Amino acid sequence: MPASSAPPKIAFIMVGLPARGKTFIARKVARYLSWLGHETRVYNVGAYRRSRLGSHHHHSFFDPRNEAASAARTQVALAALEDMLSFLREGGDVGIYDATNNTRERRKFVRARCAAEGLEAVFVESICSDPALVEANIRATKARSPDYEGVPEEEAVRDFRMRIRHYQEGYEEVGEDEGRFVKIIDVGRKMVLQGIEGYLLARVVHFLLNLHVQPRRVWLTRHGESEFNVLGRIGGDSPLSEAGRAYARSLASVVRRRIGQDAVVWTSTLRRTVETAEIVGLAFRAWRALDEIDAGVCDSMTYAEIAGTMPEEHAARQADKFRYRYPRGESYQDVIQRLEPVIFELERQRAPVLVIGHQAALRALYAYMMDRPPHECPFVSIPLHTILELEPTAYGSEERRIDLPPAPLDPEGFRQSS
Ligand code: F6P
Repeated sequence: MPASSAPPKIAFIMVGLPARGKTFIARKVARYLSWLGHETRVYNVGAYRRSRLGSHHHHSFFDPRNEAASAARTQVALAALEDMLSFLREGGDVGIYDATNNTRERRKFVRARCAAEGLEAVFVESICSDPALVEANIRATKARSPDYEGVPEEEAVRDFRMRIRHYQEGYEEVGEDEGRFVKIIDVGRKMVLQGIEGYLLARVVHFLLNLHVQPRRVWLTRHGESEFNVLGRIGGDSPLSEAGRAYARSLASVVRRRIGQDAVVWTSTLRRTVETAEIVGLAFRAWRALDEIDAGVCDSMTYAEIAGTMPEEHAARQADKFRYRYPRGESYQDVIQRLEPVIFELERQRAPVLVIGHQAALRALYAYMMDRPPHECPFVSIPLHTILELEPTAYGSEERRIDLPPAPLDPEGFRQSS
């Protein structure tokens, strides 16, 4: 591929006081961009500090007047920056430098290092003036961080507040003369942009606009067993089987007991998901973006028929299931691209979300939620008649699987009794 057609490399430079959600934002952006196929890495200076200088530092370690400690902290900060620049030099697409970068002087240095590598730095500054939000963040993440392992919560919180105060002393907001920036104020209540142009940067800003920190669960389930599932045929638009309708009734009772009537329910536009949602009985929205992978000329065939009549297609899919595109259909990579608006909406929602979908499309959503490399997504197990309950935690999601009756048919066409 000619170099000019490659998307530009980006160095995001986080800015902000401690406990302003920088790491949360950095990891979310990294997860989103990696999912879209951009090689992205976060360089967290706190982690460098812990591995090189140890954890359990008293707040005085962060006092700018403590010269020896300041020099040691600068060293680790520079090491992380250089590692990020090497990553970008050696083929990475997007680097995220996760540090406070709270002075103009430090940012000038970082920008100059990026410029020397032919990279434009984009500052992502998180400003939070709401003391309740900062306090909640300290308690939810900082007091539980490895820095305070074994330290009673109140003592950890007190020490961390002092640490913030040290950074506050020298803090200078990013100015208009500092190039490109995105300022996120009070967790997205307001955003200020400068010099944001180009497709990828615009996507990232759009993504950031939808972020919030309110925890809420997401449930993923395939539709109930369909008539095509019973026949082993892929794609199509068949109705539910009797067992599929029974599953939808089991799902309805879980929704009542565990998920709640305020859940936002999404389906694809295909009959099997819509019928499942109708039995669940809550209002729902049908998204075309959630439709199953389009198997093109192979739609409505069994895997054995494809292998028998189109052995080259079968072999090509076996060789690279992630990139393989069905003739006149889609690949997993294509499915990920079309699911982007669903991800934005998923991030924006504050209510619990139940997605009634299909095997391939749900694998792609799951890879995003669980931060799994995209090329692994075609192999994620998402069986019929199972609910995946995903609970976003500070920096990822926890997963529980709930199998509901009736058991679906096994590959030999038998139904296990349940
Ligand atoms: O068999 C059900 C199904 O949803 C098909 O419609 C779809 O083609 C398939 O699963 C996707 O799974 P895989 O990528 O493993 O073939």
